[in-house]
Amino acid sequence: MRPLRQVRGGFAAFVVFATPLAGCDGPSAEVREWSPGDHDQPPAAAGQVTAKPATDGVDPSIIDLAWRRNCTPCHGPIGRGDGPQGPMYRAPDLTQPDWQANITDEEMAKTIRKGKNKMPAFDLPDQVVQGLVQRIRSARGK
Ligand code: HEC
Repeated sequence: MRPLRQVRGGFAAFVVFATPLAGCDGPSAEVREWSPGDHDQPPAAAGQVTAKPATDGVDPSIIDLAWRRNCTPCHGPIGRGDGPQGPMYRAPDLTQPDWQANITDEEMAKTIRKGKNKMPAFDLPDQVVQGLVQRIRSARGK
């Protein structure tokens, strides 16, 4: 008989819980019909920043992630070649203004895609490769 008692107990608990709701009978002045306007966004507060896509269509945080995942081990956080494996692979300092002045974006992109000596090739989407090149450019002289 044990299981039956448990079921009854559950039912009793439901009744006790449900009873107070019975007092809410009758129409309330607060309740009105839903209208589509209820789902409108509130107007933006002054100074609020709306998330917008980067101009080239790739979220900068994706470039950041791609760099940290793939490049930091050798090139370091900003590209100085001071990643944990930098010395072993002799990763060059990509922030060097002299070096940057003598390399084009296309050459950098080609090295990233095809690799060069100990630099491995990376099969990344074109926009990500371009973003990585821009990231290296923005670290110039840092
Ligand atoms: C395993 C270590 C390693 C990793 C990981 C690595 N690199 Fe390199 N990278 C190198 C080495 C070594 C060179 C120098 C190649 C040479 O000139 O012989 C280099 C050179 C470069 C150059 C200069 C290319 C040139 O033509 O002079 C760029 C740009 C570059 N890496 C970007 C990247 C980017 C972007 C990533 C991540 C997607 C990355 N690297 C990941 C080791 C690495």
